[in-house]
Amino acid sequence: MSNGLLKGKKGIIFGALNNQSIAWKVAERCHEEGAEFILSNAPIAMRMGEMDELAAKTGSDVIGADATSLEDLNKLFDAAIAKFGKLDFILHSIGMSVNVRKGKHYTDLNYDWLQKGWDVSAVSFHKVMRVAWEKDCMNEWGSILALTYIAAQRTFPDYNDMADNKAYLEGIARSFGYYWGERKVRVNTISQSPTVTTAGSGVKGFGGFLGYAEAMSPLGNANALDCANYCVAMFSDLTRMVTMQNLFNDGGFSSAGVTQKVVERFE
Ligand code: NAI
Repeated sequence: MSNGLLKGKKGIIFGALNNQSIAWKVAERCHEEGAEFILSNAPIAMRMGEMDELAAKTGSDVIGADATSLEDLNKLFDAAIAKFGKLDFILHSIGMSVNVRKGKHYTDLNYDWLQKGWDVSAVSFHKVMRVAWEKDCMNEWGSILALTYIAAQRTFPDYNDMADNKAYLEGIARSFGYYWGERKVRVNTISQSPTVTTAGSGVKGFGGFLGYAEAMSPLGNANALDCANYCVAMFSDLTRMVTMQNLFNDGGFSSAGVTQKVVERFE
């Protein structure tokens, strides 16, 4: 499916680790819609090698950057500007919690790990936008997106400190989005259904999350391709006045009090 919605648009896509990654699907869809972009990920993720396949498929360069490092981000943006001139879109699809990875309980968080996860999952969005801001490298009517999860608004115990990281991430989208308005650039977060990926599957009880969300969503869970399609819409010229929003791509989960499927399980 291609409608040329992103023809001529240039961007950077962060976070495609393997073909299950949401960012992988976003890259495929952006390519189909005519965009050109640079793929970026943490150097350690790039060594796993799968990104080369995506780069070949989409005709993209791959440039490593630890998204917590201003030095790495400066180099990445310099390379993007050298290649494309100004940019039209950025996708931040980055998340990691050391406490989740190591199974540390929320009531007993390790604060060094918390800080690391907060930096990777939330503050990196500020750093990405700050570097783009300082280099003044976004075209007017450009679009910047990050991916988030509803644990920012409601408690999902096993999501642990990632819930707080997502709340912070959504706050950054609003706060920085205000300033980007001066430059006619929009900033939003997409709050996605639970999706089977490397990061998603790392959350304890993920299968339960997935099944519960499916039963609680009138349309069912949105998958990675659905998310990618929403990202394409948000990068396209069809959504120019949408900014500082947290946009749910969740089959209705966030508005459903209960569904028949769930009620039946308790009768
Ligand atoms: P994923 O594991 O494929 O992607 C996470 C990415 O973050 C990986 O590519 C990883 O290499 C990258 N990353 C980690 N540390 C980094 C660093 N220091 N610098 C640069 N990149 C770094 O998993 P997924 O699910 O595609 O995650 C993408 C985004 O979607 C994340 O923000 C995640 O929280 C969000 N999300 C995922 C949901 C799910 O159920 N899978 C639901 C809602 C949101």
